[in-house]
Amino acid sequence: MNSKKTGAVPRHIAIIMDGNGRWAKRRLLPRLAGHKQGVEALRRCARACAERGVEVLTVFAFSSENWNRPQEEVSGLMGLLANALAKEVQQLSNDGVRLHFVGDRTGLSDKVCEGLSQAERQTAHNSRLVLNVCFNYGGRWDIAQAASKLAGQGIAITAENLDKAMAMSHVCDPDLLIRTGGEMRISNFLLWQAAYSELFFSPSLWPDFDESDLDQAIAAFGGRERRFGQTSEQIQPPPARIVAA
Ligand code: IPE
Ligand code: IPE
Ligand code: MG
Repeated sequence: MNSKKTGAVPRHIAIIMDGNGRWAKRRLLPRLAGHKQGVEALRRCARACAERGVEVLTVFAFSSENWNRPQEEVSGLMGLLANALAKEVQQLSNDGVRLHFVGDRTGLSDKVCEGLSQAERQTAHNSRLVLNVCFNYGGRWDIAQAASKLAGQGIAITAENLDKAMAMSHVCDPDLLIRTGGEMRISNFLLWQAAYSELFFSPSLWPDFDESDLDQAIAAFGGRERRFGQTSEQIQPPPARIVAA
């Protein structure tokens, strides 16, 4: 996609859903209560994205490094995923959402893997919004798995071939990457795909992130000029010619 600054809505939004733990801590609740509220925020955000004409929403739900959290939190998050698969998929499907789970499934139990595949099959016919849930995902893992896939098949490791072998090859690159919770880092999210994404850091903690926060991010995106390495003059449409009457 080429130049912007047109107030356009991004086709693909990616979100690092951060701040669940702090949201819970401020309320003297266990961290898991924040993650549970995070599921609500995701449901709200997916609906809002679909209403605004966003085609793809990609969210970071569990990173390769999140295994290093306390055992209790990790098992709580796994339980929450299983619970969300059981309770949320039908409604998402009714809303026209097509689900994809992106990440390393070898680290997940057979039961969870079956749940992920089942949810993908159940929503495969939908086309209003693609929702990619990155779970046990890391940008470095993605680049490494793509390179090893190519090497295994004897295919040259070029940028174009890597791109096709990446876990997100079914969608265009994110136009807008939002991180909630106030931290200004990527934390091993879409390292390859975010090469030319516009970045937006929201101070809102993920469970509080609502439609007005989303609209702020989309408005900021609409005001950016995307140059993709070119100069401003190259990407501005030429001024309209005034033709004498
Ligand atoms: C993001 O919220 C969710 C996951 C990483 C699973 P956090 O749990 O990182 O929340 P904070 O950053 O501690 O507030
Ligand atoms: C990034 O958040 C991962 C997810 C939102 C799933 P983290 O909370 O794990 O990131 P760091 O540790 O603050 O960089
Ligand atoms: Mg965090």
